[in-house]
Amino acid sequence: MEFRGFPVHDSTKVVRGTLGWDDTTGAVSTPLYLSATFRHPSLGQTTGWDYSRQGNPTRRELELTVAALENGTDGFAFTTGMSAVAATLDLLTAGDEVVFSEDLYGGTYRFAVELASRHGLTCRFADTRSLSQVEAALTKHTRLLFVETPSNPMMRISDLRSLAQLCHERQILLAVDNTFLTPLVQKPLDLGADLVVHSGSKYLAGHNDVLAGFVVTAHHELAERLTLIAKTSGAVLSPFDSWLVLRGLKTLDIRLERQQRNAVRLANFLTVHPRVREVYFPGLETHEGHSIHRSQASGPGAMVSFRVDHPALVGQVLEKIRLIIFAESLGGVETLLTFPQAQTHASIPEELRRRLGVDDTLMRLSVGIEHVEDLEADLAQALR
Ligand SMILES: Cc1ncc(COP(=O)(O)O)c(C=O)c1O
Repeated sequence: MEFRGFPVHDSTKVVRGTLGWDDTTGAVSTPLYLSATFRHPSLGQTTGWDYSRQGNPTRRELELTVAALENGTDGFAFTTGMSAVAATLDLLTAGDEVVFSEDLYGGTYRFAVELASRHGLTCRFADTRSLSQVEAALTKHTRLLFVETPSNPMMRISDLRSLAQLCHERQILLAVDNTFLTPLVQKPLDLGADLVVHSGSKYLAGHNDVLAGFVVTAHHELAERLTLIAKTSGAVLSPFDSWLVLRGLKTLDIRLERQQRNAVRLANFLTVHPRVREVYFPGLETHEGHSIHRSQASGPGAMVSFRVDHPALVGQVLEKIRLIIFAESLGGVETLLTFPQAQTHASIPEELRRRLGVDDTLMRLSVGIEHVEDLEADLAQALR
């Protein structure tokens, strides 16, 4: 990876972006271009910027920075993660089929079932941990496989290299939602994916103060189609929100370092807790996807799901936590605790939820950057 021709690591790139400073003024913070439109010097001439729905300098710096981190060639910033998912599915045409990981963020599931299906896409769901189950769900009309790994909320791990190979043998696009890990921990394009999707509202922005979404690709043709989709659908990220994400991104590496360290400690604490029946965290050697995860990601992430020994304990914990916040979302500096059955995954039919294990004893922890002893003490008193 290069910064103005100088080779740099990801941890430098997040701080400096692609430009690093403004060449006109020397400003070290990317200027916030709150301009809807741009003056043309004369007929047939442009400064390169015309109208902010099509392109805005602040948003572009963010898009190219996220694209560079994912080792893609182009990136697109949307208003939310969901509009990034929508843009990805907009690459398809009525009659096409999509296979999704069956353990999936509830909003993506709802989009597939409530919107995409009504617009002529056939959406199927498969356990993407199993190549044979994925193969069984593919038909000659399948155009896209959409995978979450680790999945939300069961932390299932899918083998991206094998899935990419399977997809490419059949000319199917592979899209990976990399929200849970970020490009600093997992780079799906390097493992063979064609598209990476993000909710930028989570780790990339990192402060629970902005909603954003991204799609990144390294294919010229896909990038051209996404350019058309972004400027035509108009669900593009505002300059101010782009600036907020750029600012948040600068600390992504150090935030993740602390968050992952905290998550390992809390996962170990929960594993031996007498009231906790199971812990789902790919950093644990006992996790069934641990070795595949290690082969494709450089760290465990900071999302920990766990199952308590009685449904009544869920309500108790959510009421008793003092420091940890009972709220949906993830990836920010504050530690959040979620009850997926009633929150993030309420849209998933009960039968599927039960089969996945998203039930009345499952909780999901997004570990923040607070002092880990405070977090552990809070969990300990809430579980008591
Ligand atoms: C894995 C995943 N993908 C996509 C989304 C949607 O993102 P947003 O809330 O920014 O629309 C979420 C939101 O929680 C998510 O967890």
